[in-house]
Amino acid sequence: MFYDKCEEILISKESLAKRVEELGDQITADYEGKDLVVIGVLRGSFIFLADLVRAIKMPLSLDFMIAKSYAGTETTGEVRILKDADVKVAGKHVLIVEDIIDSGFTLSKLVPYFENRNAASVRICTALNKPSRRQVKDLHVDYVGFEIPDAFVVGYGLDFNDGMRNFPEIRIYKP
Ligand code: IMP
Ligand code: MG
Repeated sequence: MFYDKCEEILISKESLAKRVEELGDQITADYEGKDLVVIGVLRGSFIFLADLVRAIKMPLSLDFMIAKSYAGTETTGEVRILKDADVKVAGKHVLIVEDIIDSGFTLSKLVPYFENRNAASVRICTALNKPSRRQVKDLHVDYVGFEIPDAFVVGYGLDFNDGMRNFPEIRIYKP
């Protein structure tokens, strides 16, 4: 069955849509008059990213990175960048968009990437945040859709072993 092991809905479609509009309004206000570059971290962010950029009411450019640190439901600690962003970021304001922040290893590796390329600023926007799982203590997260408890979640772009990304809502995965 389609929702097998994922019966419990943590965040509904409607709640996600409402929160994304709020984040879009906030980002629009914060970046007014600035040169904004949005970098989506694939693959998990693709649905959130598509919704978020349509909620940001100002010009922006868009690029993608692919980073991998997970095997199953546990981080491997080692972050590999499988695809880098090509867009020129020097002097521009970079907003990195993630699906979820867990240990924080992935973003702790991505943020310096853009700082070293002389971005005017680098901020982080994540759909979900699991602060209780953080291992990188000094990671500053600027925009958070929802703080969630320590559970493994799937849907709205988030996967378990590359499946379940197409659930329209955030569900708890129970093996
Ligand atoms: P971090 O490097 O530990 O912060 O992990 C970030 C990445 O791990 C995210 O971009 C996700 O791809 C993956 N991840 C962490 N927690 C979950 C989860 O609950 N469900 C699905 N993927 C997760
Ligand atoms: Mg993932």
